[in-house]
Amino acid sequence: MENLSNTPTAQPPVIYRKDYQPFPWLLPETELVFNLGLETTLVLATFTVTRNPDAEASQQLRLNGDGLTPARVTVDDVTIENPEMDGDDLVLTLSGDSHKIMIETELDPSSNTQLMGLYASNGMLCTQCEAEGFRRITFFPDRPDVLSTYWVHMSGPKDLFPVLLCNGNKVKEGDSVGGHHFAEWHDPWPKPSYLFALVAGDLVAREDTFTTMGGREVDLAVWVRAEDLDRTEHAMASLIRSMKWDEETFGREYDLDVYNIVAVSDFNMGAMENKGLNVFNTKYVLADSDTATDADFDAVEGVIAHEYFHNWSGNRVTCRDWFQLSLKEGFTVLRDQLFSQDMHSESVKRIEDVRILRSAQFPEDSGPLAHPIRPDSFREISNFYTATVYNKGAEVIRMMRSMAGPEKFRKGTDLYFDRHDGEAATCEDFISAIEDGAELDLTQFRGWYRQAGTPRVAAELVQTGGTTELRLTQSVPDTPGQSDKAPMPIPLKIALHDRAAGKLGEEQLIVLSEAEMRVPLGEAAEPVLSINRGFTAPVVIERDIASADLAFLAAHDDDPFARYEAMQELVVGHLLGAENAGSAQDITEAMGAIIADGSLDDSMRGELMALPGVTYLMEQVEKADPTALHEAREGLKKTLGVGLRSELAQLYDRAAAIGLDDPQGRGARKVKTMALGLLAAGDPGAANLLAAHQYDHADNMTDRQGALMTLCGFDTPERVDRLADFYERYRANDLVIDKWFTLQALSTLPGVLDHVRELAKHADFTLSNPNRARSLYMALASNPAAFHTPSGEGYRMIADLILALDPINAQTAARFVPALGRWRRMEEGRAALMRAELERIAKAEGLSRDTSEQVTRSLG
Ligand code: BES
Ligand code: ZN
Repeated sequence: MENLSNTPTAQPPVIYRKDYQPFPWLLPETELVFNLGLETTLVLATFTVTRNPDAEASQQLRLNGDGLTPARVTVDDVTIENPEMDGDDLVLTLSGDSHKIMIETELDPSSNTQLMGLYASNGMLCTQCEAEGFRRITFFPDRPDVLSTYWVHMSGPKDLFPVLLCNGNKVKEGDSVGGHHFAEWHDPWPKPSYLFALVAGDLVAREDTFTTMGGREVDLAVWVRAEDLDRTEHAMASLIRSMKWDEETFGREYDLDVYNIVAVSDFNMGAMENKGLNVFNTKYVLADSDTATDADFDAVEGVIAHEYFHNWSGNRVTCRDWFQLSLKEGFTVLRDQLFSQDMHSESVKRIEDVRILRSAQFPEDSGPLAHPIRPDSFREISNFYTATVYNKGAEVIRMMRSMAGPEKFRKGTDLYFDRHDGEAATCEDFISAIEDGAELDLTQFRGWYRQAGTPRVAAELVQTGGTTELRLTQSVPDTPGQSDKAPMPIPLKIALHDRAAGKLGEEQLIVLSEAEMRVPLGEAAEPVLSINRGFTAPVVIERDIASADLAFLAAHDDDPFARYEAMQELVVGHLLGAENAGSAQDITEAMGAIIADGSLDDSMRGELMALPGVTYLMEQVEKADPTALHEAREGLKKTLGVGLRSELAQLYDRAAAIGLDDPQGRGARKVKTMALGLLAAGDPGAANLLAAHQYDHADNMTDRQGALMTLCGFDTPERVDRLADFYERYRANDLVIDKWFTLQALSTLPGVLDHVRELAKHADFTLSNPNRARSLYMALASNPAAFHTPSGEGYRMIADLILALDPINAQTAARFVPALGRWRRMEEGRAALMRAELERIAKAEGLSRDTSEQVTRSLG
């Protein structure tokens, strides 16, 4: 019965990439029979194993399990009494070349709080198998290089589970005795066990169809609870756009008769690409303008696209082992980013993606958890679904694309899909295919897969006899277990502008492959360097540049990213008190120019107006004092709010006049809330009333949430009233109540820690739902003033949370550890307090493998 424990191990073994061995057996077909019940589910697995000619022969068949006890095991129809177990695994000794194996297990989905394997959520049953959840359902070679064709028979009470879904195509269904019914599904595409999925529940669907470029008609369905059906339109439209785009841009066609998406409220991650049956966190399916912000709409579209794109980059071509995770995730993130760039503004999307990289991946790459995009070892694979594997992984492939150009890159990806269709491939296979198809030499480029750490590129302009020369130097910093790193090819788009002539230079792509490089750039009376345009490389550029030059770039560069970057550099320099940094007055003028620039659309204007976050600022200094950085940033906001009061008010009024469905509406809403935020810093009294007014008259969640966020910074009756109104208005909607928790935990008011403690006792708060747990505590961990309170109280609260959540949901608990892991980059006092909390967690008994690995690595 016990399939629920996330077995604690004192010293979980380290698994190394270099130790990879192919599995000695093949499993061409797998048959699964599920007798479904919320408290008791019986699983009968049947498969024939044959020897793998490409592996070293073995007498042993190791079948992974996690917390399972075999109810019955037969080999060639003979029952094995007391089958041999090795830890959680079942080990069978086989003498012949081919054997039929049958295994029965019994599960209790209702007590599965880890949300891995088969679990219950809101009365329905669903599964999550990536990375190693299938072994919580039955004993199996639960590794991505064992591909099998699945036949599934599922049955259960029709009243509880009117809808029965699985991978592939439905081949049969019908009623059976005692109010039960059944369905049979066949997935013709061989797949690894991590892509298996099953759903049984009382669901309704939004249905549509898509005709593929080859003329195949596909039935599409988005399955939700009845009360959520009217919020599925955007998800369906996003799916159809994704299918079309992948045909046009990557030549990829869908390959089954059905594509099902199911929304579940209890889910550890965002969504999962199971073959033909994606399972989604409701957060990335449900959206309408009353309950979802513009950003939520974009997130739904992006995640739907991401999981759809996995059908080729992940499912048709899968990973040989989990060290190759970036093969599917990095590539698929790049694909979803390119898709979103095409659907909306290319430059705005690029800026958003760089902001995510810098705030989530750069800190990882410079901290105790740094690892290459293709890691060399791990204890628990769930801990390696990181910003490095995902976002840096996407950047690395994007660099290949920049060097090859989009057409040649497409030749490379075509060759990759063609060569490895139906296989479990490696990152090396991908690189080779791009090399051959795109005609690039990537020998040295492979360093990006091996070496962790964000490269630093120092750039200097030197005048040599009338011409300007660019001198570049690169270095890759040491990271845990890695030092003395080799230079890597760094593609940089650059241009030399002439400030005196107001002239913009020609863009060129250079590749810095050595430690040093000199590039002659021609003549300019007042040369201004524009570098890493479009953010062609995930590196840090170090340069001495006059604030007047930054202001020039911010106002005039023809590369939108470079304008954004110049504005960020100007603000960062000022806030960190760098030498030659611009004054608050310089920033006020630059911001004023951006507000007044009639050539910008509001979406881009909003990006240019955004101030760098405290996390990014912390990353810029050796030892951070988060309170000081936060206060400096708030101080600048105030200066801007006062200095640009009338400009901001005008911008606000102009934006407020644009209606919900106007094509300019999204940009308008973005700058409106930004203007409100700056006005709030300059004149809190007036902004408090303006925000309350915006809240009361909002006809969409973007405006309502934006107003409430501003109000949450004020200790006023308006804040209290609107928070109460928000709760009453949306109390039936979990996703909106998550926002209610988050907004309060992000507040800059002094009493926020006590308030979070109160919220944790709220009737609607629970640790068993990951969205809800994160809504309160991830917000707290990302609230710099609160989390980094000098007393260490914020750290203690997150440590307490980790300890309380770990036995319930280890994966989700472990994701809070990195917040405490950055102690080395903190000033002494906080460093000691953070470390002490990590040590307290480390001492706890029965810690999961997930959390113990993260804590051990963080302590270093
Ligand atoms: N394959 C993952 C989902 C996953 C991750 C399952 C880790 C189990 C463990 C999926 O394709 C994915 O990457 N989802 C992301 C969202 C995506 C848009 C980056 C997620 O869930 O956060
Ligand atoms: Zn993915």
